[in-house]
Amino acid sequence: MLSKFTVQATIPSLLRTHISQPTRYTCLPAFKKSFSPSASSASISSSASACSGRLSGKKCLITGASRGIGRAIAARFAAEDASCVLVGRNVSTIEKVAAELEGKARHQTRAGDVGDRAFWVETAKELKDIDILVNAAGITHSSLLLATKPELVENIYRTNLLGTTWACQVFAKNMVRRKAGCIINVSSLLGVAGGRGSAAYAASKAGILGLTRALAGEMGQSNIRVNAIVPGYIETQMTDENARAQALEAVPAKRFGKPEEIADAAIFLALNEYANNCIINLDGGLSAM
Ligand SMILES: NC(=O)c1ccc[n+]([C@@H]2O[C@H](COP(=O)([O-])OP(=O)(O)OC[C@H]3O[C@@H](n4cnc5c(N)ncnc54)[C@H](OP(=O)(O)O)[C@@H]3O)[C@@H](O)[C@H]2O)c1
Repeated sequence: MLSKFTVQATIPSLLRTHISQPTRYTCLPAFKKSFSPSASSASISSSASACSGRLSGKKCLITGASRGIGRAIAARFAAEDASCVLVGRNVSTIEKVAAELEGKARHQTRAGDVGDRAFWVETAKELKDIDILVNAAGITHSSLLLATKPELVENIYRTNLLGTTWACQVFAKNMVRRKAGCIINVSSLLGVAGGRGSAAYAASKAGILGLTRALAGEMGQSNIRVNAIVPGYIETQMTDENARAQALEAVPAKRFGKPEEIADAAIFLALNEYANNCIINLDGGLSAM
């Protein structure tokens, strides 16, 4: 399996940073062909299935809920009547998203930095009854490791890997006591396949897969399921407008995924009681190339 992925070292690292450092694409591989990016997904509506109410009575905390994949997952969960707690750094943004969610349940917000363990300790004191935790918050940066400032590497690990680890640690404690819970972590194809210019990001996302697998084993007997989604390129702010024009040809589906398609996988993982250590690839076939 690993050897399968070693041939994917040319998977482009097109994810752009959302932290204060300038984005650099000097390390991007050359692409032979171009593609036309599809419209970005700004809508909050869920990719509504005929079903609804399947998460009624469940309390779900979703990080990275202010936009992109986290927001789409919150919208799908809310449409299934889950009560959502939205986490992001900007209070007004997550409150606006919460106000727009559909469904019968009430929603809450918690503004904070997922990489700050104190934020999680405080949040878990107030919210002891989270049934489903979704770790979707993340940042990225594209540059060769040798050209990446140490503080930037640290921030990527802190946000992506430590942020996910702390959230799992604080909420799993209560889940173990209640002998029920579900954790869904968002990794990345770059975490499996690597990709030029993605060392810190890929390492953080590979770490999330290791964390997921270990916790699935540690907590399965306590009726806690821990699963992960491995997206390829998804239409969000994280995928860079300019650089992605070089990559579509590499994706067999000839398009990027939609956040709602990741949300569909999250619903599956939330509902399927036999899914534990289940890692779902959603990359339009890119991992096969
Ligand atoms: N888009 C892709 O192609 C792709 C591919 C593979 C994996 N992923 C993963 O999918 C997840 C969601 O990505 P996306 O594409 O939806 O990205 P996005 O549109 O940039 O959204 C990132 C989210 O993470 C939040 N966030 C970032 N740093 C945070 C921090 N320190 N504390 C709290 N919240 C923080 C942001 O909230 P605020 O900025 O409002 O605080 C925002 O809600 C990420 O983990 C990403 O690595 C994305």
